[in-house]
Amino acid sequence: MLKTRHLIDPMDFTVEELEEVFQLAGQIISNPREFSHICDGKILATLFYEPSTRTRFSFEAAMLRLGGNVLGFSEPNSSSVAKGESISDTIRTVACYADIAVMRHPKEGAPRIASMYTDMPVINAGDGGHQHPTQTLTDLLTIRNVKGRLSGLTIGACGDLKFGRTVHSLIKALSRYDNNRFVLISPEELKVPYYIINEVLAKNNIEFQAAERMEDVLDTLDILYMTRVQKERFFNEQDYIRLKDSYILDNDKMKLAPSNMIVLHPLPRVNEIDYEVDNDPRAYYFKQAQNGMYVRMALIIKLLGLV
Ligand code: NCD
Repeated sequence: MLKTRHLIDPMDFTVEELEEVFQLAGQIISNPREFSHICDGKILATLFYEPSTRTRFSFEAAMLRLGGNVLGFSEPNSSSVAKGESISDTIRTVACYADIAVMRHPKEGAPRIASMYTDMPVINAGDGGHQHPTQTLTDLLTIRNVKGRLSGLTIGACGDLKFGRTVHSLIKALSRYDNNRFVLISPEELKVPYYIINEVLAKNNIEFQAAERMEDVLDTLDILYMTRVQKERFFNEQDYIRLKDSYILDNDKMKLAPSNMIVLHPLPRVNEIDYEVDNDPRAYYFKQAQNGMYVRMALIIKLLGLV
């Protein structure tokens, strides 16, 4: 049983609690039928104030495959949000109807605020350019299953490290395992925020290096975590246009990478991974998306206290 009732930040779970979630996800993958009624009668609410495909669908599919039901909105203008309702009132209302809620919001901290107004478990499905802890569960489960460990790895994060919330959460989570190294590949303007460098990497004495060209560092990596340049977070379109194609991973670049390096991407991809890379056995991003559903099944079960 988890101590936490909400998942807002990747550090909300201890390493031991994470391990419980991954083990449960493993049991679900090998024996899904055993879990197909565990959430009978339970309702998951999805409150998506920002676009989503994988996160919302995988949460909904997760709850349906556990025997539960789902309700929610993916277009906030179709709900009372359009009338000016506050996050606190919305969540208190949703808690009257649902057992657990998932929230994605463009404002950093919105899911945290929501969690303060209810005992119903609230899950952060991405808050602005801040954190995305359930994507991190997906990423860690994938790394653990393919590499057999979450320590002693060199992780290259490439692309929009400034606005990319998945990278922020991944670095936070992996910083708690021994001997991980980070290679932060980005243009100057899209470097990882100072608080991640200062409060996570430097504070925990974690080795990291910055690089501008992926060709220079590819041969050193165990994991290459590609990200999309986050168009919606830019203040002006010209900067986006100038930076959007900073990195394009293709088969030629993959030749520079170790044979056992794996490529991850939270998706959606825009231009940063050429479609030709999809056939490379080192491309794991669709497997990663599939793991997202299983790990969210495990998360729902744990947060509802059902095992
Ligand atoms: C990511 C997100 O929303 O932050 N998508 C996802 O949840 N898989 C990555 C992105 O949008 O670039």
